[in-house]
Amino acid sequence: MYNYNIGNITNVDELFKALGTPHGVEPLESTPFLHVWQDRDESKEFFRQVREYFNKENGYIANILEIGGHVGGHAVMLSTLIKDFGYMVVIEPELHKLFLRNIVKEVIRPKELIHLPFMSEDLECINIVADFVERRGLFQLIVADGAHSVVGVKADFLNYWPMLSSPGVFMIHDIGYFEVREAWEFIKNAGDYQTITIELYREREEQKGLETTCNGVGLIFKSG
Ligand SMILES: C[S@@+](CC[C@H](N)C(=O)[O-])C[C@H]1O[C@@H](n2cnc3c(N)ncnc32)[C@H](O)[C@@H]1O
Repeated sequence: MYNYNIGNITNVDELFKALGTPHGVEPLESTPFLHVWQDRDESKEFFRQVREYFNKENGYIANILEIGGHVGGHAVMLSTLIKDFGYMVVIEPELHKLFLRNIVKEVIRPKELIHLPFMSEDLECINIVADFVERRGLFQLIVADGAHSVVGVKADFLNYWPMLSSPGVFMIHDIGYFEVREAWEFIKNAGDYQTITIELYREREEQKGLETTCNGVGLIFKSG
């Protein structure tokens, strides 16, 4: 049994404090956890921007799509900090055992979680998600953290942007990573939409004289 009370957690700081396992550290077998691939400051800013946007638009998040579920870092944050949403669809060829453990520990706990064991660019996968959208409604939040190639990131954006509602937020993770950065530079200038680039990790590291090639969050807002 574990005795973390995550039910009342409302912000990234509390969540990292309760569950955070630093990158590279193997979490204990028995505990729920948040494996910290994500930078805490960037995560805070991401949630701040998303909340502000939906408040301004008088909207709310009903359905979430994540591309690239892996150990469930985003899934933990999203399902803990965004209260009362319905479906979370996760596209991931092979869910990591730690993702599954977090489901059992109820740290990842949307009302319904649908795992699609596909590569996001597979036509079969795109059709299944499109079918889901037709029956259950559009996504208000899409997190793209699967493919890290120029072609892959652009394909995810092209294929899944139409499945985002308005208001809605499309998030691209790791825009500090070589090819993802190239894709992000293209995507953020390719349409008539508002975008926000969050690179607090890179800025921090640069102040220390270090170069980085990970983290970074790109947000694209769908309005109108
Ligand atoms: C950086 S990890 C994602 C981390 C995860 N979002 C988290 O918060 O724990 C990338 C994951 O994307 C998956 N992946 C890579 N290419 C993919 C694709 N085209 N479609 C779906 N998943 C993909 C990989 O299997 C890997 O588990």
